[in-house]
Amino acid sequence: MCGIIGYTGKKNVEEILISGLSRLEYRGYDSAGVAILDNGELRIRKKQGKLAVLREDLKKSPIKGTTGVGHTRWATHGVPNDTNAHPHVDHKTQIAVVHNGIIENYQELKKKLQKAGYEFSSDTDSEVIAHLIAECYKGDLCAAVRAATKQLKGSFAIAVVHKGESGRVVGARRDSPLIVGIGEGENFLASDIPAVLEYTKKVIYLDNGETVDLTDKTCVIYNGKGKRMKRKPTVIKWDISQAEKTGYKHFMLKEIFEQPEVLRNIFKERIKKGRVNFEELKISKAQLKKIKRIVIVACGTAYHAGMTGKYMFEKYARIPVWVDNSSEFRYRDPLVDKNTLVIVISQSGETADTLAALREAKERGAKVLAICNVLGSSIARESDGVIYTHAGPEIAVASTKAYTAQLAVLYLLTFYMASARGLKAARNKQFLKELKKVPHLTEKLLDEYRSRGNRLAKYATDFHEYYLARNNKSCFLYLGRNINYPNALEGALKLKEISYISAEGYPAGEMKHGPIALIDENPWVVCIAVEADTYDKMLSNIQEIKARGGLVIAIVSQGDKLLKKGKLDYIIEVPRVPEVVSPLLVVIPLQLLAYYVAEAFGYDIDQPRNLAKSVTVE
Ligand code: M6R
Repeated sequence: MCGIIGYTGKKNVEEILISGLSRLEYRGYDSAGVAILDNGELRIRKKQGKLAVLREDLKKSPIKGTTGVGHTRWATHGVPNDTNAHPHVDHKTQIAVVHNGIIENYQELKKKLQKAGYEFSSDTDSEVIAHLIAECYKGDLCAAVRAATKQLKGSFAIAVVHKGESGRVVGARRDSPLIVGIGEGENFLASDIPAVLEYTKKVIYLDNGETVDLTDKTCVIYNGKGKRMKRKPTVIKWDISQAEKTGYKHFMLKEIFEQPEVLRNIFKERIKKGRVNFEELKISKAQLKKIKRIVIVACGTAYHAGMTGKYMFEKYARIPVWVDNSSEFRYRDPLVDKNTLVIVISQSGETADTLAALREAKERGAKVLAICNVLGSSIARESDGVIYTHAGPEIAVASTKAYTAQLAVLYLLTFYMASARGLKAARNKQFLKELKKVPHLTEKLLDEYRSRGNRLAKYATDFHEYYLARNNKSCFLYLGRNINYPNALEGALKLKEISYISAEGYPAGEMKHGPIALIDENPWVVCIAVEADTYDKMLSNIQEIKARGGLVIAIVSQGDKLLKKGKLDYIIEVPRVPEVVSPLLVVIPLQLLAYYVAEAFGYDIDQPRNLAKSVTVE
């Protein structure tokens, strides 16, 4: 949550900060601000609202300068307004700080600083950092930042400038991400790579507890003990176009349409000569063989991928699997030990709850394997082994391609585990063949939805009209069974997070135990009724809903008999594939339906209210 950026070099810093922040806006967007060093002056501009508000303000009265820091906020302490927006400054307006994270002991520090005469102006936890650095300042900004951050409890990534030290930006991190971009005669700090990618592909991932001292030509990193660290930059292989909309109206739509390519790349890279290959996995097959059970820990969409993984691992690798929300796992007394493989799944690799769960699992002696999208992220680095999904940057807050990439990796991992445990290789080969067909099938399916007047968009506008005609009174239920039950949860999550319509997912068999009481003409019920062992049971569920006046959108396999009967209100076909791989196809219309509903309502699809892309606070 919150995006930070820092720059020192020869270019107009205002432009660089604003362009960097526009690529970090997915992390938070309730206010934004910059601090720029201009001829011995420290100039601050901050505005409530999206970055566009600040951008307009700066257009009217620009600030010159070649060094500065910037911030885009997702409020934790203090409502979004101009005063609570970052940067925060010390009492003499000499030091400006941007912060991502939460300072847990800010009240205690604030009291101490107030006693010493420091006056606070905001309701944030972050302001305390500016005053604390001022308190520690003895003429060297980097030394002051190191001294101050030692006193902080909680999580932070900060970028700091001092009025009297032109051309210098200091950064520090603990449990919130921060990277350094190494340029030619210029250097950058940022929460994430897209913010600097237009200018450099060389980045250094700062480790926990490190401080970095930047000028236009130098980059000096210190560890928590003050020791200088030597670090080689990593060269980023993807380019900025991947972090741009490239003609799509929204990032979410672009990312949905990228899924065939993402899946194709994963299968191409991982399936070699009929075998699954995970080169970078630091956990040996012998170690995997000893595993007695798997615990999958994740949040949100990644958690749904994990739930699907349970079906796969149990059915094909015959290992018992528990799936837990990271936020629950970390506060239970979880039963994991050296015979447990804990799989943590996270697109960003920075989700605070998942990171804490990972640490908890390691402390209890479990081996931890991460499935991550963001290279060099905290979760990737702290795990014993990591499998990257290489899905490219996911910018929209609603996760789509990261989910299908996580599913793809879980399929492959299932069969990797199955073979490590000596289970039926022939069956695996057939399965891998089916999997390899999926990218093409998803592409064909998506082609049907390229035109704006497509069928799903029509269903969505129908819903919009229906909703308005009923005085905003309607909602969605999503029903699935077996391996498509997690997709029912995922479809509901997608819809509610971007269109604010109440939506719940259930295993269809649970309907009669309560949720069926909701059925009248109000809710729209999405039923996943593709070819499956439980297909007939799903048909009965559909009948039960129809008998009670419910409105059904059925997702069926191509050529399904329901199509002929024509009794359903709405019907969506997906290619007919074996049940086990069907989640990869079923989720696509679910994502698109959510997208089109949000579009019909005219909502801000990529930046839904109250959310942020990576949740780096508890
Ligand atoms: O980066 P992570 O995969 O760890 O994020 C987990 C959740 O915060 C994330 O999936 C969230 O639920 C998305 N907004 C869902 O679309």
